[in-house]
Amino acid sequence: MTEYVGAIDQGTTSSRFMIFDRKGTIVSVAQKEHRQIYPQPGWVEHDPIEILENTSEMIGAAMARANLGAGSLVSVGITNQRETAVLWDKTTGQPLHNAIVWQDTRVDQLVHEYGRDGGQDRFRAITGLPLASYFAGLKLRWLLDNVEGARQKAESGQALFGTIDSWLAWNLTGGVRGGIHITDVTNASRTQLMNLKTCAWDEDMLKAFSIPPACLPRIVPSSQVYGTITIPSLQGTKLAGILGDQQAALVGQTCFSPGEAKNTYGTGSFLLMNTGTDPVQSKAGLLTTVAYQFGTEEPRYALEGSIAITGALVQWLRDNLKLFDLATQIEPLARSVADNGGIYIVPAFSGLYAPYWKENARGTIVGLTRYVTRAHFARATLEATAYQVRDVVAAMEEDSGIILSSLKTDGGMVANELLMQFQADILNVPVVRPKVVETTALGAAYAAGLAVGYWKNIDDLRANWEVDRTWQPTMSPEQRSRYLAWWKKAVQKSFDWAE
Ligand code: G3P
Repeated sequence: MTEYVGAIDQGTTSSRFMIFDRKGTIVSVAQKEHRQIYPQPGWVEHDPIEILENTSEMIGAAMARANLGAGSLVSVGITNQRETAVLWDKTTGQPLHNAIVWQDTRVDQLVHEYGRDGGQDRFRAITGLPLASYFAGLKLRWLLDNVEGARQKAESGQALFGTIDSWLAWNLTGGVRGGIHITDVTNASRTQLMNLKTCAWDEDMLKAFSIPPACLPRIVPSSQVYGTITIPSLQGTKLAGILGDQQAALVGQTCFSPGEAKNTYGTGSFLLMNTGTDPVQSKAGLLTTVAYQFGTEEPRYALEGSIAITGALVQWLRDNLKLFDLATQIEPLARSVADNGGIYIVPAFSGLYAPYWKENARGTIVGLTRYVTRAHFARATLEATAYQVRDVVAAMEEDSGIILSSLKTDGGMVANELLMQFQADILNVPVVRPKVVETTALGAAYAAGLAVGYWKNIDDLRANWEVDRTWQPTMSPEQRSRYLAWWKKAVQKSFDWAE
């Protein structure tokens, strides 16, 4: 019987289950979107039960599509939207509140308060992260302070905290009947509660953020057999890999050597560079994060440039401004004009993340004249993605001292060839798209497959990686610097808008 590996990819907008063969080829996939809940400006929530139900449904659907029974999968991995925080009751299995999504800015006041006493980088040495509303720890703090009875339950261990990986792992392995309460090192490194060097919860951070240790999951490696799945469609299958989605894409792109990097274009965009066994502290506004830890090996670290809004800007044009019906229509629309008509869009909807870390920045459109059409909006939207990635690449080069010779890309937006060309032009390096662009799910499958010996080592994985297409830069240096100067001016305009 042919054997496969499964991957749950629980992202910001949808939940998917994908099945891969030994070559890393997709055998089956099923995907479903979930609701985005916006209770107030700047707040973003998800319903954890809806996420769980969609995930189980998609597992069943993908298995049925390929006509497979649980016995055909050697193991399953989870990859997930990272800093999204869930707190649930261990006896009822019910969440105490909606999940607070990574993009949510409700803790910005807390961020300011902490920052007043010691500055934005006061926890960087321990956690690798600046103070920002992005990370899960302060979201948990908000839940403990604002949901009735939550703190008391968390102190007694009755309420369990986790990012989405923990929520799914607990439910898939038994839930109220004895599910395992774990999170992997990569997800834990996004809470701002983990000590980056020891990969354990940091007592000083827990004290600083008033987090009771009893509610926290056990931190485990990214690739290891953790337990057995109990839901009917995967009954008895080993749960053997967990990686935050951006780290999973790094693994799926087989960036295993220090200096290798990838950029994933999704809701946001995330550029990660492997820095090996050294957690390199950033001076240029990047994050230091755990890249992966396979079994008993030492953890590997990465520098990360996180951008909150890239693909989400395309969705915003589609859903809020109704400029087109389908996200794919943005490319022909943008191609219908020669350039951006002089407008620049800075999508600082959740403040600006790397390398700026400006909580108070807000979305800005500059350069409007009566000449401007929706086609220019389309073009400026794609360009905003490329410019933001370029800012992060510049920071990455400054921090690492490594000049990127090409950029490996993946994620939904890499189907957009206009964007890929503009990215190569504005970076002045070739942009490379691999054959399998679903590298996030593939990375989780790799972690789960390595744990059970389906793949022997990382060389097996490297052998699966193939180029689909490369875009070469064609823009003149003068034009590039002119464009970049305009972009920089637009970014400055977005700063300090919110109170
Ligand atoms: O840090 C947030 C990131 O993990 C979200 O990724 O692909 O769900 O937008 P994505």
